[in-house]
Amino acid sequence: MAKMRLDKFLSATGAGTRSEVKNLLKKHQVCVNGRICKKPEQKVDPDKDEIVMNGKRIAYEEVSYFLFHKPSGCVSATWDKKEKTVMDYLNEPQCRGLFPVGRLDKDTEGLLLITNDGELAHRMLSPKKHVDKTYYAEIEGEIKEEDQKAFLEGIDIGDEKKTLPANLVILESGKKSKVKVTIQEGRYHQIKRMFEAVGKEVTYLKRISMGPLKLEDSLKKGTYRRLKAEELEQLKRGC
Ligand code: URA
Repeated sequence: MAKMRLDKFLSATGAGTRSEVKNLLKKHQVCVNGRICKKPEQKVDPDKDEIVMNGKRIAYEEVSYFLFHKPSGCVSATWDKKEKTVMDYLNEPQCRGLFPVGRLDKDTEGLLLITNDGELAHRMLSPKKHVDKTYYAEIEGEIKEEDQKAFLEGIDIGDEKKTLPANLVILESGKKSKVKVTIQEGRYHQIKRMFEAVGKEVTYLKRISMGPLKLEDSLKKGTYRRLKAEELEQLKRGC
């Protein structure tokens, strides 16, 4: 693995912010390979160097979880020949094997979990787990009670089976409508196809929650943060 700055490594492993880490270094609380190190810019190899803070070895994090606010215009993949991917927004060189949990369309915005915990991702995506995914959508056309009923009954979108019941909340209805939809599956273009099946077009789509995870307004498009301990606990408990 590539070498990285000591302060960056320490803050990435949760030791504190870059400035807190600098203070710890000043106070001689960090050793690299048995020697006190005061230099934040010291290059370390997390695979090879022994980094000890306050007498405790700082291990490289095995699994990491990030809540990303996906902007429109990037694809939910780890690599693409032509397109910008969601991974281009992450700067976490110390985390290996990160990938997005599930997919959002290139033009869809919103909450995307990025992790290297394959087991949790598998459980979250399992159709048997029925993890709620809520989207805010803008629709060309009027949304009526009959659409809500149809969504609750499940929609034929041309697949083998109808969709599971979906909860459709009308926020504004008119020539252009605003809604919230909660689904428990993740079929290809599911929301767009559900509206298409009732004769309407989705003009804007944003995922605002997934299970216990909520996209807060303060997390700007294209940025991300680590999951909080209680969010991770709820996520693991829920699936
Ligand atoms: N449904 C869609 O149509 N697109 C998405 O990106 C997610 C759900």
